[in-house]
Amino acid sequence: MKVLVIGSGGREHAIIKSLKKNNKISEIIAAPGNGGISKDAKCIPIKANDITGITNYVTEEKIDYVVVAPDDPLAIGMVDALEEKGIRCFGPNKAAARIESSKVFSKNLMKKYNIPTAEYETFSDYEKAKCYIESDYVKFPIVIKADGLALGKGVVIAENLEEGRDALNIIMNEKKFGDSGSNIVIEEFLTGPEVTVLSFTDGKIVVPMISSMDHKRIFDGNKGLNTGGMGVIAPNPYYTKEIAAICEKTIFLPTIEAMKKEGCPFKGCLYFGLMLTQNGPKVIEYNSRFGDPETQAVLPLLETDLLTIMESVTDEKLESIDIRWKDAFSACVVMASGGYPESYKTGLPISGLENEGEAIVFHAGTEYKSDTFFTTGGRVLGITAIAENPRKTLEKAYKTVEKIKFEGAHYRKDIGKY
Ligand code: AMP
Ligand code: GLY
Repeated sequence: MKVLVIGSGGREHAIIKSLKKNNKISEIIAAPGNGGISKDAKCIPIKANDITGITNYVTEEKIDYVVVAPDDPLAIGMVDALEEKGIRCFGPNKAAARIESSKVFSKNLMKKYNIPTAEYETFSDYEKAKCYIESDYVKFPIVIKADGLALGKGVVIAENLEEGRDALNIIMNEKKFGDSGSNIVIEEFLTGPEVTVLSFTDGKIVVPMISSMDHKRIFDGNKGLNTGGMGVIAPNPYYTKEIAAICEKTIFLPTIEAMKKEGCPFKGCLYFGLMLTQNGPKVIEYNSRFGDPETQAVLPLLETDLLTIMESVTDEKLESIDIRWKDAFSACVVMASGGYPESYKTGLPISGLENEGEAIVFHAGTEYKSDTFFTTGGRVLGITAIAENPRKTLEKAYKTVEKIKFEGAHYRKDIGKY
């Protein structure tokens, strides 16, 4: 069986390493992949968003199964295009991917189906949005979100009216996030621990994976700019059995049902970004895909074969699979380029990768040439370790992190010290 994985980050590397355990698979191909992925799969130079390039390749090379991992190809209908050609794949179609690609869609869905989330208003007109934040209805801080995909950067927390006006101007007039900012959501600021729950769903049932905790800010102590994620621990210590039961009943199942009722059942990995507020768990965001770096911490804990689960999602037979997890803890520490998430250098040689030790090194932004790995992105590597207790996972992960070097390398030293 030939399997193609679309994408090029640490998440895709983690998916590929899990798929490699299945001996039904004769070849794994990544489009476009990265330096580290090239050691585990054949990388082909086709961009993740190139629908024509991918569909032609899949037909010519007789690929049996495609995993569409990143948000962009899902949002532009990669799965629809592949299915039209009769190719089996993992991931939601374009209509279902709106749960991530349009915040207006997802907020309206939650309101209609009574799924707990922050109170909000939507706007497509700058003057109306400005009048609204100047009115007595609004209590600061408020959260302003661009409707569309913005690489996780389209969210502004405005502490006061001045910051709110600035954010509206930047998003709606200056179009800092392009057309993503034509429509916006203004919502209530919530507080509480954040939890990520990735789930498998075939559109009929939903099976949550082990919970996790991302560390989104660039610096220790949750300081500095938001990033794509600087580290993860799993399971999330705040996510008790009682809270999990509430989430299943009030959030997970109602979301799957809601998508079905709206005529766009969701098949794939649905990401629930939750906040545990004093008034119960609420949805902060949905993503239509595996999270990154969450996947790098969660998939190494999976005991059941990943391809078998994915195929059961595609075939809408998820209820026939018993998904099991290791009774262990996991931690992933991200090594980033100095300066990320703003500007940073690339093309720097990485040394010490032979010291993987007891950890797993996932590559996020690397290329391999002349026997050396070089940096190519903001997030460069994700170092994951598993152990029987949280302290040991962190010790093992940091032991490997400290042996890997590249100029300006930056990582948080407080992952898991919540
Ligand atoms: P999002 O892209 O929607 O996940 O937002 C990015 C981050 O902004 C989240 O992980 C939260 O830390 C924060 N955030 C988003 N919405 C809210 C909210 N309503 N209240 C407080 N923080 C929020
Ligand atoms: N780690 C956050 C995300 O994948 O969106």
